[in-house]
Amino acid sequence: MELETAARAVRENAYVPYSGFRVGAALRGAGGAVFAGCNVENAAYPEGTCAEAGAIAAMVAAGETQIAEAFVIADSPEPVSPCGGCRQKLAEFAAPDTPVTLATLSGETRRTTVGALLPGAFSDADMSGT
Ligand code: THU
Repeated sequence: MELETAARAVRENAYVPYSGFRVGAALRGAGGAVFAGCNVENAAYPEGTCAEAGAIAAMVAAGETQIAEAFVIADSPEPVSPCGGCRQKLAEFAAPDTPVTLATLSGETRRTTVGALLPGAFSDADMSGT
């Protein structure tokens, strides 16, 4: 519930003049602290950043590099589906069995894991032969 509360609150601050689609993400770090992020769009569209990326940046800036749990919420018809890039970003800082809850604003949720969201994620192990 703490993650949901944080994700709902930060979603209100999303900067979305182009899409109008607000997303909030909250992460619990391995140390127990909660980090939140919202999407931040830009007139140069590709420069916009996703909510998950913002939450990860806040987490890393605070000195935490391990995600214990994640929560993402948006006003979507089905529990919001993280984009491909965010799945890879989450996988960088989480074990495959790390729980992820995807939610709609109206309260529907889907529980999944980082590994289920991105099977076969590219990782540092892929570079171990170099
Ligand atoms: N968005 C996120 O913040 N996270 C996702 O996983 C999916 C998409 C944002 C990016 C953009 O600001 C808006 O949603 C529409 O794509």
